[in-house]
Amino acid sequence: NSPKIVLGFESSCDETGVALCTTDGRILGQALYSQIAMHKDYGGVVPELASRDHIRRLIPLMDETFEQAGIALQDVDAIAVTTGPGLPGALMAGCAFAYSLAMGLNLPVIPVHHLEGHLLSPLLSSNPPAFPFTALLVSGGHTQLMGVEGLGRYALLGETLDDAAGEAFDKTAKMIGLPYPGGPALSRLAESGNAERFKLPRPMLHSGDFMFSFSGLKTAVLTTAMKLAGVSQPSETMVISDTNKTDLAASFQAAIVETLVKKALAACLQQDHKRLVVAGGVGANQLLREQLVKAARKRGVEVYFPELSLCTDNGAMIAFAGAMQLAMNPALLDARDYGMRTRP
Ligand code: KG4
Ligand code: ZN
Repeated sequence: NSPKIVLGFESSCDETGVALCTTDGRILGQALYSQIAMHKDYGGVVPELASRDHIRRLIPLMDETFEQAGIALQDVDAIAVTTGPGLPGALMAGCAFAYSLAMGLNLPVIPVHHLEGHLLSPLLSSNPPAFPFTALLVSGGHTQLMGVEGLGRYALLGETLDDAAGEAFDKTAKMIGLPYPGGPALSRLAESGNAERFKLPRPMLHSGDFMFSFSGLKTAVLTTAMKLAGVSQPSETMVISDTNKTDLAASFQAAIVETLVKKALAACLQQDHKRLVVAGGVGANQLLREQLVKAARKRGVEVYFPELSLCTDNGAMIAFAGAMQLAMNPALLDARDYGMRTRP
């Protein structure tokens, strides 16, 4: 009963990722291409350009992955691919390629939910969490708290009513004139700012549930920015001094981080979990990491993060999620229906 090998593809947004993972959880090779430079001029991801670029990158990245792993296409037992959620055209590029390859090689396809990829990515770190745990999933498209009892056993505890945390970072960054993707740039700027300078709202902090809302916070940043620039209409060319920008970035980051930390910890305690896992792009945020660890320590909860390189979209998390599904359900090896199966 030797481990099986899964070839995984990710193409849901602006990263093309390919990886090989075994059913005992080893990444044999991985390659990633980020389209950030291409989308920068437009201030955000241009879906049409993203789809076209995935098509361009998939095969070279796959070749690189196999070269790294030192194995060949014939050694693969199953193909995993992100089937959603994401940009339709971008997903289609990855799916069309993965399904065609699978049909050509007579291999099964394991459809992977993008968020399950993020959710399981901390299991790839050198200090992986044991089940059960509470997961805080914070990406550009999603903000969710999940109760995770085991592989495939997930309960949604709460989510955002409007913007995702990463989206709030990106939109706020754009408002103060930072280049796309704004999240990392804003947090770098915030490091030297005064987080106490502007009193920004912590929406739904005391709502008593695990729901989030970030659009009010975004509006508060905009109103503050307009006041600082001395204008009555928002515009892309508002002039704000560097100190004001830095302090606004720090105040915004403090507000969003405080909300995420308090709700995540409350959910973890309510679930009676001793482990809190953070996943998704915003999980790379240094302040969020520090504050979570600090708050969790006081309550006897341990916090787990994915490796920084696995926080944002990548192929490894998709190959891994596919490999874990296959490990749990070896019958998937015989599946040849090539329909867009979703998990129960
Ligand atoms: O998980 P991800 O790669 O994409 C989605 O699946 O959405 O997350 C990307 C998001 C972006 O909104 C980006 O600004 C944010 O994660 N992000 C950060 C940081 N690094 C990435 N936000 C705050 N601080 C960071 N250091
Ligand atoms: Zn993602």
